[in-house]
Amino acid sequence: MDVPPSRVFVMREGALHAEGVDLRALAEATGTPTWVYSARAVDAAYDAVDDAMRAASGGDHVIAYAIKANGNLALLRRLGARGCGADIVSGGELARVLRARIDPAKVVFSGVGKTRDELAAALSAGIKAIHVESASELRALAEVARDRGVVADFAFRVNPDVDAKTHPYIATGLHDTKFGLELDAARDLLAGVSSEPALRLIGVACHIGSQLETSAPLREAVAILARFGLELETAGFPLTHLDVGGGWPMEYGCEDAAFPGAEAFGAAIAGGLADAGAEARLTSAGGDWTLFTEPGRSLVGAAGLLLSRVVYVKDQGTKRFVIVDGAMSELIRPALYEAYHAVTPVVPREGKARVVDVVGPVCESGDFLALGRALPPVDEGDLVAVLGAGAYGREMSSAYNARPPAAEVLVDGDAWRVVRRRATPADLWALEEH
Ligand code: LLP
Repeated sequence: MDVPPSRVFVMREGALHAEGVDLRALAEATGTPTWVYSARAVDAAYDAVDDAMRAASGGDHVIAYAIKANGNLALLRRLGARGCGADIVSGGELARVLRARIDPAKVVFSGVGKTRDELAAALSAGIKAIHVESASELRALAEVARDRGVVADFAFRVNPDVDAKTHPYIATGLHDTKFGLELDAARDLLAGVSSEPALRLIGVACHIGSQLETSAPLREAVAILARFGLELETAGFPLTHLDVGGGWPMEYGCEDAAFPGAEAFGAAIAGGLADAGAEARLTSAGGDWTLFTEPGRSLVGAAGLLLSRVVYVKDQGTKRFVIVDGAMSELIRPALYEAYHAVTPVVPREGKARVVDVVGPVCESGDFLALGRALPPVDEGDLVAVLGAGAYGREMSSAYNARPPAAEVLVDGDAWRVVRRRATPADLWALEEH
């Protein structure tokens, strides 16, 4: 493997560190399992996308962080303070970004099943645009806007039918997915939009999928999107934004080679705009289009790890099981997608590596964090870190087996603080005993 297990968390003086913080000391103080995030790694990831988008847009752009990757308020506040916007997919996420004081003018709302209540809340908040994904949703939006006596700014999230060449569960831009509108379906809605004063079409958006291994599909999708944008303008709908979606990849530590850098994805976006002959529509060129993108995992994924302690080591059948106190209830990605996350002891011991399964205490055979993984010797009581866990980790976690959700810690230089306290059993039953 050519890609190191982590570029963020490094071994120093025999122990894994998050920035200046020794993870042994952190585990002593917080207990385990605990999510650990590096604030500076998030900053650096943000800067990389920001630079690439500046190059692609000539300046004016919005990074609408897909907060579904990790909506912890401390992370949202940190990103928001740097000018970051948000891509949201629920009323809960709307409330969260407002709580974190992310600028509503930089918030877009995606998702195939927005309820009327969610649409109304988004209109009240004055977000940039609702990204409409069906004819029925557009009808609902018009009704809600009319009832409230407001004009709803919206974009079509279109489905450019470009193969993102990624895991089927995270490819979203093909014909047979539930996401987006076919271009022709969007075209069919235009007459209705023109005659509905409560609707204002101001943008186009797409998201072809996550974890793009090369930038070529993005270029293809952006060209289709930008051509469609130009077509809408010719049809009499002046646009203010073009949203190219997410897909910026992150390394999980199992790749044979490093992914192209953010600049390659920025160049692909610029290339797609050029292919469509749409560069002049960008605000930097005197046009009206602000370029949006919706990175999720690339901003936070590599910046996070799950810190766990080995409870028992058990040899059974042909296998050795390393049973840790973190589980699928924390990180479900391995069970759900057979996703790879690098696992490393916090204090590696001398000795021969051995192939083990790293599993949790949850009563499911699917409760594993790593299968058939060669690890240096680990003993009961040792700490292990599951890497690349900052995105879709805590966010997809559950309290299955009445396991109280783990604490989250944000490290910044030599300092760290708990940004979500560990839940207690009483937190879990509080909603039942009210
Ligand atoms: N924009 C839209 C409209 C999306 O649907 C998504 C992800 C993103 C942006 C952000 O994608 P990213 O940059 O993070 O790749 N739970 C899965 C991921 C589901 C992603 C769904 N949509 C996982 O753990 O890999």
